[in-house]
Amino acid sequence: MEVVGVCGSPRVGGNSEQLLDRALGLVAEEGLATGKILLAGKRIEPCTACLKCRKERDGLCHGREDDLTPLFPRLYGAAALLLATPVYFGAATGEMVAFIDRLGYVSRGNGGLLNRKVGAPIVVARRAGQNFTVAQLNYFFLINGMVVPGARYWPVAFGGAKGDVQNDEEGLATVDDLARNVTWLVKLINA
Ligand SMILES: Cc1cc2nc3c(=O)[nH]c(=O)nc-3n(C[C@H](O)[C@H](O)[C@H](O)COP(=O)(O)O)c2cc1C
Repeated sequence: MEVVGVCGSPRVGGNSEQLLDRALGLVAEEGLATGKILLAGKRIEPCTACLKCRKERDGLCHGREDDLTPLFPRLYGAAALLLATPVYFGAATGEMVAFIDRLGYVSRGNGGLLNRKVGAPIVVARRAGQNFTVAQLNYFFLINGMVVPGARYWPVAFGGAKGDVQNDEEGLATVDDLARNVTWLVKLINA
């Protein structure tokens, strides 16, 4: 029962990853197994709309052979996905969008492999665009039948330079709250 965090920032050790680490740390403290996947440095191509996932129906993406291809079984085996991304021009990064497009399309073409898993976004920006990006990720979770916990605030934080996010006390507290709610929900669903 793994809670897998996926970081969509190309900046290793940046604000999104710092928030994700914080969330995963709390989840681990509360007794669940955790893992982290960085999209940074990986070749994550966009969906080709080849529709082979719907013909093969083996839970894999056959349109691309890249660094995402081998991750599908682990992602579909997870109890929860925490998706962390910075805001790029008011939306999630290109890496994160390519990731969710392919993961979601294969899931939906194979009977709903993400159905009833827990999904939660973590979004950071220097100044604006967090809410739209939270909505973007929540649309992904919801159309895939996933269950999305809330927190004391929308799961957003502020930070521009690497590490700035550590100064956003409310953002950090919100991530903590989200992590605890993810853990609570995963335990409830899998009891
Ligand atoms: C290409 C690009 C686009 C960005 N667009 C936005 C934006 O629309 N709104 C904003 O507030 N910050 C924007 N930023 C700033 C990042 O969201 C911010 O630096 C964030 O902390 C980066 O997170 P990371 O350290 O996880 O990579 C942008 C940065 C880059 C490189």
